[in-house]
Amino acid sequence: MSFKIAAESFPITPLEVVVREYDEERDKAGVEELERRCEIGQRGKPSMVTDLLGDPIGRVRNCCLRVMLVAEYGEREIVGVIRGSIKTVTNGKKAANGVPCFEKLAYILGLRVSTTHRRLGIATKLVQHLEQWCTQNGANFSYMATECTNKPSINLFTAKCNYLKFRTPAMLVQPVHAHYKPLGSGVAVVRVPPHLAESIYRRVFANSELFPQDIDQILKNKLNLGTFIAIPKKLLTQWNPKTGVLPNSFAILSVWNTKEVFQLQVKGVSKLTYACCAGSRVLDSLMPWLSIPSIPNFFRKFGVYFLFGLHMEGKGASRLMKSLCAFAHNMASHDDGCGAVVAEVGQRDPVREAIPHWRKFSWAEDLWCIKKLAAAKQEAGEECGPLDWFKSQPSSSVIFVDPRDL
Ligand SMILES: CC(C)(COP(=O)(O)OP(=O)(O)OC[C@H]1O[C@@H](n2cnc3c(N)ncnc32)[C@H](O)[C@@H]1OP(=O)(O)O)[C@@H](O)C(=O)NCCC(=O)NCCS
Repeated sequence: MSFKIAAESFPITPLEVVVREYDEERDKAGVEELERRCEIGQRGKPSMVTDLLGDPIGRVRNCCLRVMLVAEYGEREIVGVIRGSIKTVTNGKKAANGVPCFEKLAYILGLRVSTTHRRLGIATKLVQHLEQWCTQNGANFSYMATECTNKPSINLFTAKCNYLKFRTPAMLVQPVHAHYKPLGSGVAVVRVPPHLAESIYRRVFANSELFPQDIDQILKNKLNLGTFIAIPKKLLTQWNPKTGVLPNSFAILSVWNTKEVFQLQVKGVSKLTYACCAGSRVLDSLMPWLSIPSIPNFFRKFGVYFLFGLHMEGKGASRLMKSLCAFAHNMASHDDGCGAVVAEVGQRDPVREAIPHWRKFSWAEDLWCIKKLAAAKQEAGEECGPLDWFKSQPSSSVIFVDPRDL
């Protein structure tokens, strides 16, 4: 695929930029260089740098329908990049016969433009060409996520590309400490096999938004470290997972290892902040019995475990969920270089209150914006009806956040 952007698109310099599909052999070095120089964050403030571990397409590699486009200027200089993927997900509605309605949805991620080529319309063109690919591949909607403070990105998508603010899930971050976190007395944690996890998830997330039809592929993926259920110990002997019948009280989640796809590093903090963080670790190692909540070394590369498919039911479910999060934290603390355990959940999702996190490192609102790409096609016999997804109130407080989108 190759698109030419007319020189007159640019008011400042008559550049010639070609937008085309990423070619690993030709573009890998250029994209890596661009990513290295692109820091996300506000100027003069600490920023997060992403290392894609030598695989620029890695962030969408786990999706079946995906693309990566590059913007090339002049003699093979890569000045912009964007990724996209398409999947079929629930939209939170139900047909008259009670069956969940699905929608073909594109996700836009990993957009970067070289700092020396900004405000020249390159990101706009990358988004437009990606949307064209999404439409050609059957997506009815596309959405993207950004930090509420990322003005350039918000302006680009809302003012320039006609996206509307859609959902604002909370990103909850828990640093990983050397200390073991107790699971809570009377709680048993059991690993469930992928086929059982799939049937539970299909049941409990049937009415949520964005639950992917190919959940089985996610659960089978090697980045999925497992699905775990916490139940009261006293119910353990009565529960036979093979029957598929769940105990009255339980909590469930799965753990995704993003460490194999990308690593993060915090840059640009003041010397004082750096010294305080290092000091907390020294104190902690000298006096481990005090269990000082020291701040992990986020200034060198670290990986993240992402918790997804979080759901809880029944009496004492919040305590069961807290135990599961402690269990996931302990898994992460045994994995060298894993700096944080992260979960993203809807603002009004009941699990939100049960997920331990540090407010300082979390985002109260991750901004998701959505756009209708084409007139939503209605298949013959389909009972879901035409959808004005972004204009309607969320039908469920639960959003399934796909770990492949992180
Ligand atoms: C966001 C980003 C991709 C924009 O790239 P760009 O090529 O400069 O964007 P464009 O030239 O196409 O700008 C289109 C519109 O976006 C908005 N915009 C872009 N940069 C802006 C800025 N610094 N401040 C305010 N608005 C901005 C404007 O509305 C602009 O239209 P205008 O120039 O007519 O006013 C780029 O700044 C970037 O790579 N940032 C770091 C990575 C990032 O934040 N990616 C987005 C993650 S979702």
